[in-house]
Amino acid sequence: MTLEHPRLLPMADHVRGKRSAVTCQLKCANACLGDECNTSSNPSFRDIASVALSRRALLGLGTAGALALIVGDAATDAPAAQAAGAAPAVPAGAGLSFGPIAPVDKAVDAFVVPEGFSWSPIIRWGDPLFADSPAFDIHSQTAAAQERQFGYNNDYLAIVPDASGTSGVLVCNHEYVNPNIMFPASSDPAVLEDRANLYKAAQGMTVVELTRPAVGQPWSYVQGGARNRRLTVETEFELTGRAAGSTLLKTIDDPSGRIVRGTLGNCAGGLTPWGTILSGEENFNGYFTAPTVSAERKRYGLAALTTSTTWERYDPRFNADNPGYENEPNRFGYIVEIDPQNPTAMPLKHTAMGRFKHEGANVIVGDDGKVVAYMGDDERNDYLYKFVSKHKYNPKNNPGARKQNRRLLSDGDLYVAKFTGNSAAEIDGSGRLPSDGLFDGTGEWVALTHKGESAVPGMTTEQVLVYTRLAADLAGATKMDRCEDVEPSLATGKVYIACTNNSDRGKAGKNAPADEANPRNGNRDGHVIELTEVSGQGGTRFAWNILLLCGNPATDSTTYFAGYPKEQVSPISCPDNVAFDSEGNLWISTDGAPSKIGTNDGLFKVPLEGPERGRVQQFLSVPRDAETCGPVIHDQDGLVFVAVQHPGEEGAWEAPHSLFPDYVDADGGGKFRAPRPAVVQSWRSSAL
Ligand code: FEO
Ligand code: CA
Ligand code: CA
Repeated sequence: MTLEHPRLLPMADHVRGKRSAVTCQLKCANACLGDECNTSSNPSFRDIASVALSRRALLGLGTAGALALIVGDAATDAPAAQAAGAAPAVPAGAGLSFGPIAPVDKAVDAFVVPEGFSWSPIIRWGDPLFADSPAFDIHSQTAAAQERQFGYNNDYLAIVPDASGTSGVLVCNHEYVNPNIMFPASSDPAVLEDRANLYKAAQGMTVVELTRPAVGQPWSYVQGGARNRRLTVETEFELTGRAAGSTLLKTIDDPSGRIVRGTLGNCAGGLTPWGTILSGEENFNGYFTAPTVSAERKRYGLAALTTSTTWERYDPRFNADNPGYENEPNRFGYIVEIDPQNPTAMPLKHTAMGRFKHEGANVIVGDDGKVVAYMGDDERNDYLYKFVSKHKYNPKNNPGARKQNRRLLSDGDLYVAKFTGNSAAEIDGSGRLPSDGLFDGTGEWVALTHKGESAVPGMTTEQVLVYTRLAADLAGATKMDRCEDVEPSLATGKVYIACTNNSDRGKAGKNAPADEANPRNGNRDGHVIELTEVSGQGGTRFAWNILLLCGNPATDSTTYFAGYPKEQVSPISCPDNVAFDSEGNLWISTDGAPSKIGTNDGLFKVPLEGPERGRVQQFLSVPRDAETCGPVIHDQDGLVFVAVQHPGEEGAWEAPHSLFPDYVDADGGGKFRAPRPAVVQSWRSSAL
């Protein structure tokens, strides 16, 4: 075997999803280059239930295939009353009035905010977290140092103030690494092994305490804070739910099938009403080589990869053909839950919420007290899901209630969405509005489990929870244009679904013709769906309409902004993460605009009610090659937060594309300079 650092081999002609070739390779293992994961024709199992099929035939198994307090980010994060004697930096009510910025050309390496606003990084890759953490030294990085420092490629972000409003915690996940811009090239075997270990330490999650002099002012992080924590690819997680302990989850290291080392590919997430953080394990398949193909492995994109992290060279569990590790990939692809207030609490992986390429999960409490989590599977032509808890949320704030709430996501029922349009005959893939003036219709949540047990003929409960994509295929679910963040508005209960794009929609041989919920062939710029539950938050019937068909309205006649005049909106492409402000406006961050509309990714505000509904306004723009992640909007506090992921990703150590966020030599003046992924805050610094 030739030991080489996996310098990137960008396949320049394959960038047809949304991303740069570099992002495709490192983040999602070229998911859009390979075969379709979902080739199912999706008959409903209700249609085929009467057909006698063996379990193996039904699953298409191959030889190896043995198978409220209703609160969320905006509400919970809102700080308590202003601290006594503290002067707010922002006049009341003036916090987030802003004039939209102009789109920023993709060649520009700058973080841009509206006139009158300032920004600063709160924490950057490599910043020391603990009292004994070494200072960041880009020239002598080690796994041991990285384990004690802020990780790479921050994605999901939560900012959770304490009651005082002047302290709190920041929680962030770290999706993947960019070796090309983290290190110089090397072919030294010892160096390469060290780096592989460092990649494990640079991923996972971070909890870090925050402080500030007064409410309304920007935050700083606290080195050595009592709640500071790093979770990495070696941290132990407890599997919960009915698949925990299953034979599908046992390995030679964990014969119990209940304790997993590490979390992988964490993307978006959510803050629960009980104060914990959820995070979605997304492109986990790209960290394994799995030479023996089975139907289940194929459906999850597992293949005989040479991974970009090279872990399979050094750690047997990342080669799924190694004896005893065949089930290791089955232990990733879940929603994880961590308690940011308790640094010794074991983090959880919830099998009851299903296994797929989880973008994230966002929770709302229904009228009956049960909690409902909305979740997307971010892969072309995969599905939208929801989970409804068996037990009720306990709004009390005491240890007993917290303990009870920590188990809410371990038991309940999983559903997948089936959309029906009311103008189906008029959908031709062109994106032309139907004669009733809306892309809209009704839908059904089809149960994959009922009272916690399999509702899918031919599949056991454990199989439904571990091979959820196969169960959803049988349920006749609607193939979506890559559901990213899915978040309920706490003001209205309506659910907003960011469908980032789908280059394969309507393509010959892909078995995914345009439908009213995904109405544009080759959907380049993505769209946002608004879903209204009509039989209770946990019920099985819904109505829906398309809120936005994204793109540049100046050049794309298929764009749609809820009927708002197109000439008055900011261009927007590839919606990814969403959040709400205290007035119920939707905020959308993007991932992929540079390769689609030629401008850097950004953060956009969209009113949902009244005459301004659909008026997309750009608030900020991230630097060259970066993706905007994890927006948190504390408008009452006058602060907007984003995680800036993979700045300068298409550059190289020797030729950086970005010097974000410090815009000085990252090593203090030496020869090499590198961008650093960072969490940024923005606030109004001068009067309107
Ligand atoms: Fe990590 Fe679905 O984006
Ligand atoms: Ca219609
Ligand atoms: Ca995302």
